[in-house]
Amino acid sequence: MQSIEKVQEHTLIVGGSSGMGLSLAASLLADGHKVTIAGRTQERLDEARRCLPQGALLSTVATDITKEDEVIKLFGQVGSMDHIVTTAATLDGVYRLLPELELSAIRRAIDSKLLGPLLLAKYGAPSLSSHGSITFTSGIAAYRPAARGSVVAAVNGALASLAYALAIELAPIRVNVVSPGWVDSPIWAAVAGDKKAEMLEAMADRLPVGRVGQPADIAQAIQFLMSNGFATGTVLHVDGGHRLV
Ligand SMILES: NC(=O)c1ccc[n+]([C@@H]2O[C@H](COP(=O)([O-])OP(=O)(O)OC[C@H]3O[C@@H](n4cnc5c(N)ncnc54)[C@H](OP(=O)(O)O)[C@@H]3O)[C@@H](O)[C@H]2O)c1
Repeated sequence: MQSIEKVQEHTLIVGGSSGMGLSLAASLLADGHKVTIAGRTQERLDEARRCLPQGALLSTVATDITKEDEVIKLFGQVGSMDHIVTTAATLDGVYRLLPELELSAIRRAIDSKLLGPLLLAKYGAPSLSSHGSITFTSGIAAYRPAARGSVVAAVNGALASLAYALAIELAPIRVNVVSPGWVDSPIWAAVAGDKKAEMLEAMADRLPVGRVGQPADIAQAIQFLMSNGFATGTVLHVDGGHRLV
């Protein structure tokens, strides 16, 4: 029988220093792939490097994807790639009722979750292999809307439309979205402060699966979207059944 040689791929994970992105980095490195993790803060990248398997397979780049010149510089540094994934989000101050919403917080959310991914696609697509993929991260707020969630709902919903259009424009590069439900990750510190544990516990009780998500649940779904050559223009919901309750 002919042996199948495992191909080593290179993935850029923006948001790879925390939560879902960090979990994805760990999984890809364990499979022997090359990974570049990116985020704004060098200290968070250094901390991630300490908890990921050491070795030449991992690179880190400090970048802010809301800034066009930094995105251009990022792709100058990273070289050729097979996949681009972004889990980046800056959502402090955005879960508010309309009268309390400040434009600066709205802009941070739109810039980090919608404009940044668009810039990544614009400047990153030329460096991707033809069998490559781009995966954006949206979220349950678009599909189970709630008061105080209007901005995040709008941004997450728009990401799906962006992916549908880019899946046509950038073909054969595949473009998909993963839409997580509530996942126990560091983002909750900014979103809920000391109410984090209480809120996650209440959601676990509501969900059909009886628990909130872990970053690895979403990392596994992203790996599916990256590796399945027939998946493009897809929103993959991984939310523990949240849309149903
Ligand atoms: N956790 C949940 O319950 C949940 C639910 C639904 C959807 N989501 C979505 O899932 C995604 C991942 O969430 P998570 O929980 O893994 O978040 P997280 O733990 O807070 O990680 C966010 C990552 O993005 C980076 N980042 C933020 N803004 C950036 C920017 N402008 N440029 C580059 N990097 C940036 C952060 O590093 P720096 O701060 O150093 O930049 C960090 O590495 C987000 O899009 C979030 O909205 C999360």
